[in-house]
Amino acid sequence: MAISYDKIPNNVDLHTNRKVQKALEAWQPDFLDWWMEMGPEGFQQDDIYLRTAISVDSSGWAHYGYVKMPEYRWGIFLAPKQAGRKIGFGDNAEYEAWDQVPGEYRKELRRIIVTQCDTEPASVEQQRLLGKCAPSLYDLRNLFQVNVEEGRHLWAMVHLLHEYFGRDGRDEADEMLQRRSGNADSPRILEAFNKPVEDWLAFFCFAMFMDRDGKYQLGALAESGFDPLARATKFMLTEEAHHLFVGETGVGRAVARTAQVMQENPEADPRQLGIVPLDIIQKYINEWYSGSLDLFGGEDSSNAANYFGAGLKGRFQEMNPKRFTDHQALDGFYELDWVEDGQLRSHQIPMRRAMNLVLRDAYKEDCLRAVKRWNKSLEKAGLEERLYLPSQRFNRHIGVYAHQPFDPQGNFLSEREFDGQTSQWIPTTADLDYVKSLMVSVTKPGEFAGWIAPPAKGLNGQPLNFEYVKFVNA
Ligand SMILES: [Fe+2]
Ligand SMILES: [Fe+2]
Repeated sequence: MAISYDKIPNNVDLHTNRKVQKALEAWQPDFLDWWMEMGPEGFQQDDIYLRTAISVDSSGWAHYGYVKMPEYRWGIFLAPKQAGRKIGFGDNAEYEAWDQVPGEYRKELRRIIVTQCDTEPASVEQQRLLGKCAPSLYDLRNLFQVNVEEGRHLWAMVHLLHEYFGRDGRDEADEMLQRRSGNADSPRILEAFNKPVEDWLAFFCFAMFMDRDGKYQLGALAESGFDPLARATKFMLTEEAHHLFVGETGVGRAVARTAQVMQENPEADPRQLGIVPLDIIQKYINEWYSGSLDLFGGEDSSNAANYFGAGLKGRFQEMNPKRFTDHQALDGFYELDWVEDGQLRSHQIPMRRAMNLVLRDAYKEDCLRAVKRWNKSLEKAGLEERLYLPSQRFNRHIGVYAHQPFDPQGNFLSEREFDGQTSQWIPTTADLDYVKSLMVSVTKPGEFAGWIAPPAKGLNGQPLNFEYVKFVNA
């Protein structure tokens, strides 16, 4: 089946690249089948006010207009090449950045790309039913924007696999469309991408915490010595910023609405007021934030050390002198407490082996900033409650704290104390059911569900009552 290359905006010379053309000709119809089967359910024929990247410059990367999602122009873009770029860190520092995959790092690079790539279609699958209970047209459109762009990120990574990894790369690209989030036989690679996102507070937490992990992973890969990977991820980051905005402001709007209604009804039970109680919001934060920490991998990691040493994956903003001046990281240790012989003891991790932690610390700072913002609306409403991030030890499934009984403050409990209290920390079935009961579909332009405040302003200069989604059968 021939592909019209005009429909694939790109800056990778697709029209002259026979090799990638051939690979895409086989892959693209499967992608569309996957999108129809696993993409947003029920809205494929509607007109959505979406942005499309049609070039990498400031005038072209966010082109707005009404599009039906299956006709979205998923493009392939790399950030512009920097002439003479050198590898910035690790044992290969100061060598010229690689335009091809170095044979000795082929396995590692493939693993890095495949792991990142798999999360992109996974998140679309996890979110596929949310459109049916969107709190407004504005939010519905934002969900679809995130979904189509995750689709484009899949394209961007598949392009790397097709262009640089030969036969194995083509096989890996095919498998991206065969695995399914939550499927027992062929699940997505990372555990956190196998659970469905079933309500909008969960979606906002996902975009706030999981997409933000993505920002830091992509940021670390944007430093890579493998230049095409660095350039692909750099461009993905421009789109990712909107996903983070959707998540951070989404949680913030839920908090603001709760604060406002509680201020107006100080004596009432929040569960009777059609808002999400703060204790449930805190439980969502606990669950999604702790899940996102797992995505960074083990605290003490030989993989992380190898990736850094080889120049494949740096730290966040590795080349920003305000953050880092030593790009070797051969000296020094990262001090961390974890349990040994039943007690918390201090350990020293050699710096290169602690790179996951260093990246995670940058991420945590960013999350703390957002929580501070959310707390502003509680403060403004004269409420005493505050939201917080749980300790890095809480509810972990990977790394030195995995499956250990820590509370959200990081205290080491007995198993029995711990089991008795988890329902206070993590959403219970009753909590989830309550939140689901608030999820009503609001489709009138300018109107919002009662549990969430409207955003400060509309999108791309449009008013709040703009028709962000036009339903064909309305
Ligand atoms: Fe993405
Ligand atoms: Fe994203």
